[in-house]
Order: sequence, then C-alpha cells, then structure tokens
Amino acid sequence: LLLPSKETNPLVFDASILQNETNIPAQFVWPDHEKPRLEPPSPPLYVPPIDLKAFISGEPLATSNASRLVHSACQEHGFFQVYNHGVDSNLINDVHRIMNLFFGMPLSEKQKAERKFGEYCGYASSFTNRFSSKLPWKETLSFRYSADPKCLNIVHDYFLNVMGEDFSEFGRVCQEYSKAMSKLALDIMELLGMSLGIDPSCFRDFYEENDSIMRLNYYPPCKKPDQTLGTGPHCDPTSLTILHQDNVGGLEVFVDEKWHSIAPCSDAFVVNIGDTFMALSNGLYKSCLHRAVVNSNTPRKSLAFFLSPKMDKVVRSPKALVKYNNQRMYPDFTWSTFLEFTQKHYRADMKTLDAFS
Ligand code: SIN
Ligand code: FE2
Repeated sequence: LLLPSKETNPLVFDASILQNETNIPAQFVWPDHEKPRLEPPSPPLYVPPIDLKAFISGEPLATSNASRLVHSACQEHGFFQVYNHGVDSNLINDVHRIMNLFFGMPLSEKQKAERKFGEYCGYASSFTNRFSSKLPWKETLSFRYSADPKCLNIVHDYFLNVMGEDFSEFGRVCQEYSKAMSKLALDIMELLGMSLGIDPSCFRDFYEENDSIMRLNYYPPCKKPDQTLGTGPHCDPTSLTILHQDNVGGLEVFVDEKWHSIAPCSDAFVVNIGDTFMALSNGLYKSCLHRAVVNSNTPRKSLAFFLSPKMDKVVRSPKALVKYNNQRMYPDFTWSTFLEFTQKHYRADMKTLDAFS
C-alpha cells in the first residue's frame, strides 16, 4: 500500500476546509443504498432509562426493575441508558471544553498525535471502521486507559509525551474522566450479571483490571449530510460502550430493519453491548449495528469509553449461561487476539479504499 505524504494526503480531513465544501470528496460519499435519510425517519428507539443510584442502593424494587429492563433491552438490541450515575457533571463539562480546544487547533498541531495505520490510539481524521468502505465525516482522538494500579497516570502521560507539557491539564481531565468511566462500567457489569441471573460480582471481577479505550469524537457540520456519515454502520468489537453525547443528536441504531435515532440526554450515558460481551453472555445479549449521522449546521461531540478486559484475559462465558443455548456459542479468545484481528480489518479496508478512490 503506497501512502501519499502527509502534505498531499487527500484522505486527511481538514474540518476548516471541508465543513464549508458543497462538493463533497468521493471518499466521503456513501453508496446510494447506505446513504442516510433515504426514508422518512422511524420513531426514536426506546432505550430504557436505568436509575443507577437506586440499583446500587440495593432497594429490592429498584433492583428488580433495573434488572428486568436491562435484560429485555439487551436481548433485543443491547442499548440502554443510565442516569443518577454518580459522574460529576463538572467533569463531563470539562471534557467537552477540552475537546472544543483540541479539535479547534490547526490541523498541523493535532497531527502531533497522529494515529498510524493499524493502530487505535491518536488523532485520526481518515480511518474507516472495519465494516466501512467510506471515510467518516469526523475527527477523533483515542487513547488507552488501564485500570491496573501500575498504570495510574497512563492517560496523563500519553498527553504529555505526545502533545507536550502544555497539555498537562488536558491529560489530567481525560485521566480523571476515564477513571470515572471505568468505575461506572464496573457498576454496570454488576447490573448485567444480575440481569443474567448469575453472581453479580462475576463480570465486575472479570473487568476489574480492564484495558480500555477512550475516544473523543468531533463531527464537524457537513453541507451534504444526506451523502455522508459521521460514523459508518458498525458493531463495537469491545465489551461495553459508555457514550456521552451533547444535545445535538446523531446516534442511530438498526433495529427491525430500520434506523432509529437515540434522543440525546446530557444527564445520561447511553450504554451498549459490544461483540466481546455478546460472546461472554453466550450470545444472549446483542451487539447491535449503529452509526452516527451529521447535520449541516452544528458540530456534534460525543465521548465514548470502550470497556475491554485485560489483554490476556480469556473470554469464556460462565457455565451458568451455557444452558441458554445448550452449547458454547463462541470459542475462547483473548482481547489481544481479537484486537489484532479487528486491526487487520482496518488495514484491509484502507487497501480497498485506496484502490477504489
Ligand atoms: C460510535 O459508535 O463509534 C460513535 C457513536 C456516536 O458518536 O454517537
Ligand atoms: Fe460504536
């Protein structure tokens, strides 16, 4: 694969130019059958709101309600929301503020953190996901989070190493936010365990020392939002995604052969099951196709925390869940082998893109 140099790379998304462009470059224009807004909008998806505080307090009625709602949503499409989640709203606002600063910088500054092909950390503006042939209308900044006590400052150190001393505050806020997400994810794992009728500490313990990924998504406006997609249709390969979206809206989920939006709610986090947890639940809980659309006026931001087990942990559904399908539906695998597999697909996609663009 021959890559054009940085200066001439036509695939680099420069928001300051592209957001005013009416002639959309071909790499961003989706095939007709995948273009958004083909049909009148379907009703928004019902994603049950779960009062996490009531669940954690152990109050019996709240606990059984939460468990029941999560069970049916996860069997159907894998999406629900949590509120009263205990994450400080000032911290969430700080991440949004930092994102405005980061993505507002000149492209050359952002490219100090440039993500390389086949890697999942860094600043990217021109990577497709593993199922897409077209480029996403967005910029992202992704970094690793580890709950291993030996890696207490992994996010902060990443910012310092890649962007320099001036980014210490960015690093501190993102470190704190990722840690809050990891803690929240463990509470949600308890809820998922309970909803599956197994020991609630089973999944909490499995993910205690997680090796997760945090991604900041910035979707600039687009003059032709019916031709492009912010994030193409995909399922998350990770275990659980905890998403905070601003109040612009754009997330859509494919259920019953139709795309349904998820109404934004800045007090809540949208949670969805990823492929790895689908395997851990022996296929009982769904990892569902979703995408993000863009609009012509307003930039949109979302913060995605992708929970994953520690790299070498073996993903194998608990015995108690095998009875649902009378057999194990997935072979054992480790997160590191699965990650390697999905990265190979990124590279394959880039080859296809290069050949056809
Ligand atoms: C994603 O699924 O990767 C992003 C979703 C969003 O930004 O709403
Ligand atoms: Fe996703």
